[in-house]
Amino acid sequence: MAEQFRTCPTTGLKVHLPAETLIKVNAVAAVVCLLVGGLAALLILLTRWPAIHLLDEEWFYRLLTAHALDMLIAWIIFFEVAGLYFGSTVLLNNRLPAPKVGWVAFILMVVGGAFINYTVLVGQATVAFTSYVPLKASPLYYLGIILFAVGALTAIGHFFAALVVAKNLRGIAANRHLWSHVRRNNCSLHSSARRSFLYPDLSLVCRYFATHRS
Ligand code: HEM
Repeated sequence: MAEQFRTCPTTGLKVHLPAETLIKVNAVAAVVCLLVGGLAALLILLTRWPAIHLLDEEWFYRLLTAHALDMLIAWIIFFEVAGLYFGSTVLLNNRLPAPKVGWVAFILMVVGGAFINYTVLVGQATVAFTSYVPLKASPLYYLGIILFAVGALTAIGHFFAALVVAKNLRGIAANRHLWSHVRRNNCSLHSSARRSFLYPDLSLVCRYFATHRS
């Protein structure tokens, strides 16, 4: 397990390597979406400029839809997932509980995002932000939305799981101190301390130390 971590030479923080890879791929996917949405922004901007009026009506609405979805949904959510993994692992000195789940979530989001962009750019889903009834776009577009949403929700669930792991690891670390204190001072275990060993809970450990100061 120990080799799955490295220490950041700049901040001194412990970095879980599988989490680091997932943070990177989600951040890169976010920037790719930002670039696609940004390029579409420039093209629709040049169309709105009366002197240039670059695109015809059909392509204007295709790119307007792609711009809105990539800028408002895809880029932001990919980046949020990267941020959630960073916060729940690196900042909390923690590991990601199930990197494979992280990869499943990422692949679902990438495949969903690809379906969305493909259907929009080939003109099968020029629906702007109306992804609801009467469902005029191609079924592949709605499948893309569902896959992206399921992937994002899986990643968010994974983030909460990482918080639970972080809390328990901290409890276990605190219990290690507790046990060494008990051994050093040869004292019998208080019932709340015993409970705190089974269910790591910082408040119980603190209460134990407060009532058993030697
Ligand atoms: C993260 C940043 C951005 C977000 C979240 C965003 C989001 C949006 C959304 C939701 C729309 C409306 C789409 C629709 O009607 O279906 C829109 C339209 C538009 N955006 Fe952006 N946008 C962003 C950045 C930019 C940038 C940097 C530019 C310029 C280079 C730009 C240029 C435009 C233009 C020209 C329109 C069309 C306005 C119209 O014709 O009414 N956007 N944007």
